[in-house]
Amino acid sequence: MTISNVTWDFANLEFDRVGERMGLSEEELSGALPRARQAHDDLMRRRAAGQLPFYDLPYRGQEVGEIRQWADSAKGRWDDVVVLGIGGSSLGPAALLHALGRNALPPAPIPRLHFPDNVDPFEFDTLLRNLDLERTLFNVVTKSGGTPETITQYLVVRERLQHKLKDRAPEHLVFTTDPEKGLLRELSRAENIPAFGIDPGVGGRFSVLTAVGLLPAALAGLDLEALCAGARAADDEGTRPDVLFNPAYRFGLSLALLRDLKGAGTVVMMPYSNRLLGLADWFRQLWAESLGKRYDLSGAEIYWGQTPEKALGATDQHSQVQLYMEGPFDKVICFLEVADHGVDVVIPRFYPDRPALDFWGGHTLAELITAEKRATEEALRQAGRPSLTALFPRVDAFAVGHFLMTLEIATVFAGAFLRIDPLDQPGVELGKVLTKKALEK
Ligand code: PA5
Repeated sequence: MTISNVTWDFANLEFDRVGERMGLSEEELSGALPRARQAHDDLMRRRAAGQLPFYDLPYRGQEVGEIRQWADSAKGRWDDVVVLGIGGSSLGPAALLHALGRNALPPAPIPRLHFPDNVDPFEFDTLLRNLDLERTLFNVVTKSGGTPETITQYLVVRERLQHKLKDRAPEHLVFTTDPEKGLLRELSRAENIPAFGIDPGVGGRFSVLTAVGLLPAALAGLDLEALCAGARAADDEGTRPDVLFNPAYRFGLSLALLRDLKGAGTVVMMPYSNRLLGLADWFRQLWAESLGKRYDLSGAEIYWGQTPEKALGATDQHSQVQLYMEGPFDKVICFLEVADHGVDVVIPRFYPDRPALDFWGGHTLAELITAEKRATEEALRQAGRPSLTALFPRVDAFAVGHFLMTLEIATVFAGAFLRIDPLDQPGVELGKVLTKKALEK
């Protein structure tokens, strides 16, 4: 297995690089260290007490083995796998597949994985009509077992499967849900549908390394062991007590301080690689739902939050970067850079007599996209805009596992530092209740 640790560069968050307005000074950082130390102690205490089981997921070899075995036994049977889930029950596996699932080119990898996610009638119906149900597996993923979007998609699918396959319909289903309770667990028992469990202590947005992410990943043939090994390496770094040598803590602390001391109410994750854009979607949920909170742990009203946005380099240089450069001083940019894209394309010297075109000849697209990222980073620095970079040596399972775990730790650390509960989401409940009321009417 190749060890491909993601490395982090925080230099452009500092005062002497981006100036006083948005840069963090040494005093500001060191002033926060006692509180950061307390946050570390708090996390370690809660981890030891079994209250933060997401930390332990990459060490559960037996569970990983069972998932791998089940997926292997289904090899060759499916042309398409549709994952029915939403939020934390979809964004993690979708990010894994987006980053790692297209490495086998061509022919297009089989099975094809689909994440309809939304209850958009046009898209959902179009997807179902284009599938050969005889060759399709549906993985229904809901931890609570009762999320309206997922349950209604399941009902539609179930009826179509039943219509076409009669009593063979259950063979085309596998559930991922709570190990004991909930609607889906009941159905799995009643109808003998295989079901994988999600640790009840692991919230949806921290569940990518449970069966939620691992089962679709295994069905797509991804390297689960490398993914978990990457996450374990991130855990090794992510439990170092010294913030300055702990990338996860440094990420969480810097972003919290930039929000509170410099007014950076927005963090933009901007990968310079299309394959990594799903990670930015996954991060948006993690950071928003975990830290966007009305109350702190003492019950005081704080209305804390930092809006996570996503942008794609170099595409959004022609759409968003004007705003980042000259708009309000309210953002920090988190670049994702890739050292080795696995494939490169040489730009040909097609017009040697035309200097303006010949200038590009002989370079490669990888050189160009990296030069664009570094130029944007430097331009932002000169404009006094803070940024940080996660450097992926390559886009492989180890690096992706490393990145995911680093940001999960960063999020719980930021919660502990800010005295916010990052594991609940009381703000989404009212919308659910009102949706049901609207349908009752
Ligand atoms: O992070 C979370 O807890 C949420 O985003 C959930 O994952 C999402 O609401 C889906 O919930 P469930 O898995 O219960 O269907």
